[in-house]
Amino acid sequence: MEKLIINGGSSLRGEVEINGAKNAAVALLPAAILASEGKCVIDNVPDIEDVHCLERILKSLGAKVNKLNSNALEINAQTIDTVNACTEDVRRMRASYYFIGALLARFKEARVELPGGCPIGVRPIDQHIKGFEALGAKVSIEHGAVNIMAEKLVGTNIFFDVVSVGATINLMIAATLAEGTTTLENVAKEPHVVDVANFLNSMGADIKGAGTDVIKIRGVEKLSGCNYSVVPDQIEAGTFMIATVATKGDVVLKNVIPKHLDSISAKLIEMGAKVEEGDDSVRVYVDGPLKGINIKTAPYPGFPTDVQQPMCTLLSSVPGRSLIVETIWENRHKHVDELEKMGAQIKVEGRTAIIDGVETLTGTLVNATDLRAGAALVIAGLIAEGETQITSIEHIDRGYPHIEDKFKKLGAKITRR
Ligand code: EPZ
Repeated sequence: MEKLIINGGSSLRGEVEINGAKNAAVALLPAAILASEGKCVIDNVPDIEDVHCLERILKSLGAKVNKLNSNALEINAQTIDTVNACTEDVRRMRASYYFIGALLARFKEARVELPGGCPIGVRPIDQHIKGFEALGAKVSIEHGAVNIMAEKLVGTNIFFDVVSVGATINLMIAATLAEGTTTLENVAKEPHVVDVANFLNSMGADIKGAGTDVIKIRGVEKLSGCNYSVVPDQIEAGTFMIATVATKGDVVLKNVIPKHLDSISAKLIEMGAKVEEGDDSVRVYVDGPLKGINIKTAPYPGFPTDVQQPMCTLLSSVPGRSLIVETIWENRHKHVDELEKMGAQIKVEGRTAIIDGVETLTGTLVNATDLRAGAALVIAGLIAEGETQITSIEHIDRGYPHIEDKFKKLGAKITRR
C-alpha cells in the first residue's frame, strides 16, 4: 500500500491553483443523468478517486463518459439502459445516493445500493427518503439497497427536519421533472448546493432560491445537456490556507471565491494570521505570533465541519488552549489519536476537542482514518520535526487531487512511496 512520506519544517511559499469542488462534482455527475437529450460537458472537475468512482458507476448504467482532459468530462446519458446501481463502487462512496434522485426523476424507478463514505458518524438518509415519498415515490430497503418507484412525481412542500446537504441536493434533482412546484424548506445553503442548482438550470430546470432557506423548483418537461464549470473547492482552499498558517508560510491561492472562505478566513485572522482577498484569489501569510481560538462547526455560512480536522492540527501547534466543537458529525475526532502519537495534547470530551498547543510535533507512522483526518495528518507532517509516514492514503486520494504535487510545488518535502 502506498504511503505519503513527509519531512517537516519547510514554510509553504508560492501559488497554488485550487480545483473544482469535490462535493459539487460528486452531485453534478449523477445529475447529468437527467439529460435525455444532448451531452453534458463539465469542466473544472477535480481529478480525484470519488469522481473516478462515479464515472465507473455512470458507465455501468450505460452512459457514455468521455474524458476530454484530466479536468473535463463529457457525459452522454441518452444511452442509459438500466436503473440498477448496485456495484462495489456504489457501496464505497457517500455521493452514490444522488443516483436515487437522478434515476427516480428521469426513469421513475431505481435500485441503488445503500451508500458508504467516511466513517465519521451515523449517516442516515431518512430525510432523502421522506422527500422522495412526499413527491409520490414508494421506497423500500431490501438486501442493502434502496428500491424506489413512482407512477408520477408531483411537486409538494417539504420541510426538512435537519439541514442536510445531501437531502437538499437530492430533492432538487428529483423535483426538476415533477409535475407542478416543489418547495424545499430548512435547506442547506452550501456553495455546492447553489452550484448544483445552477447546473440543473443550465440543463433547462427552473430552480429559484438556492443559497437561501427556501428553494422552489418548478417542474419542467425535459432536461438537456449543457456546458458547465464546477465551482472552486471551498474545502480544498481551506486546507491550503490552514497548512500555510501552520507552516508560517506565505501562499496565494488562485481560482477561489473569497466569499465562500469567509468563515475560515475570520478564524485565521482571529488567530493572528493575515488573509488578503483578491477577485478570485486569497493570499495567506503569517508575520506575527499566533494564539489559540475556539471553533464551532455549523452548516454554511458557518465554519465547515470538513475543515475542522485540519484546523485541529494547526491549533495543536499554537500557544494556548483552543476548543473545537463538532456539531454535525458525532464521530469526527478520530485524527486526534494519530496527532497524539506526534506529540499533540488534545482531550476529546463528547463532541468537543480541547487542544493545548505544544511547541513541536514529531514525525512518526500515522494512519489516515478518513479523508479530512488525512489532510490533518499531512499538515501535521509538514510542521513536525523529522519524518512522518501516513498510511491509508486512499482516503486522501478520494477528495484531494494530486495532494503531494501541490504541496511539493509550495516547497514541502513530500513524496508518495
Ligand atoms: C455532505 O455529506 C458532504 N458529503 C460531507 O463532506 C459534509 O461533511 C456534509 O455534507 C456536511 O457539510 C458530500 O457532499 C458527498 P448532511 P452529507 O446530509 O450530505 C444528518 C467530506 O469530508 N442527516 O449535510 O451526507 C447527518 O447525520 C464529506 O467531504 C440526517 O439525520 O451530510 C448529519 O448529522 C464528509 N438525515 C447532518 O444531518 C438525513 O437524511 C448533516 O448531514 C441526512 C442527514
